[in-house]
Amino acid sequence: MLSVHSLVCSFGHSFLHSFSPLTGTTWTLAILHLLNNADKLERGEDIQQTSKEATLFFGVIHDQTNSVRKEIAESMKGPRLIQTHLPLTYFRQQIDKYPNLKVIQVVRNAKDTLVSFYHFYRMEKRCGGYNGSWNHFFKLVENKQLAFGDYFDYYSDWYVYNKQRTNSLILRYEDMKKNLKTNVKRIAEFLDKKVSDDVADIIATRTTFGNMKADKMLRPWKDSNPTTTGRSEPMRKGIVGDYEGYFNEEQNELIEQRYRETLKPLGLQFIMNGY
Ligand code: A3P
Repeated sequence: MLSVHSLVCSFGHSFLHSFSPLTGTTWTLAILHLLNNADKLERGEDIQQTSKEATLFFGVIHDQTNSVRKEIAESMKGPRLIQTHLPLTYFRQQIDKYPNLKVIQVVRNAKDTLVSFYHFYRMEKRCGGYNGSWNHFFKLVENKQLAFGDYFDYYSDWYVYNKQRTNSLILRYEDMKKNLKTNVKRIAEFLDKKVSDDVADIIATRTTFGNMKADKMLRPWKDSNPTTTGRSEPMRKGIVGDYEGYFNEEQNELIEQRYRETLKPLGLQFIMNGY
């Protein structure tokens, strides 16, 4: 079973739209940022901007700054990278207007995503300084009280939409873990970017978990970040199968059942084994 999670989309000249958190959004953005700078990499030059600086983030639904961000988006020069966690309904009309707009959706198995989400809650001060147990957090999942809504309901919409859309690409976190370079090439091809094998190699090497975490241009935090509690970190483990040791039998069954009801009929397949 697979959870649809990060969504990356590219309007006209690259508008990157990254979907829900904890599925590899930041990772995919780093790859896109490097692809946008492929010519510099080819010449062995440094990149001046961090991937965070190069990305415009549309966060949550009732964020008043979204109107300001819309103006910024409109004034940005292409290729633009725009990331959001908003439901499809907030973007659909716009996306429908631009059939050439590129959308990338990254999916990650639901169980690892929820574990990652748990640690995100513990880390992020804007989640209220949450310091509950996994079992307590799971009650939020069960009661559909998680930030961004119910995991399964929320992401099915995007998946169905992107599946039938010509200019959408659906990537899997687990496939990226297994063969990063192949996926870098897939993304490049999807964006109609010609990159040499050497550059694909550079990008894949620079965006492995360990290398990206040490890379100031690509890692998702600044040296000091006032919004984190220090209880966890944005680049925490980066593995497949981390859910083991968290879920009890009942929790496992609930996720499996939700999967059978929602994502499985859509043809989504979970990849749960670690590598
Ligand atoms: P974990 O909490 O399981 O470690 P997002 O950016 O969508 O919020 O996703 C965050 C998750 O992606 C975290 O998962 C983080 O460690 C993982 N991640 C970030 N960069 C990665 C990379 N280069 N390789 C593998 N996983 C990565």
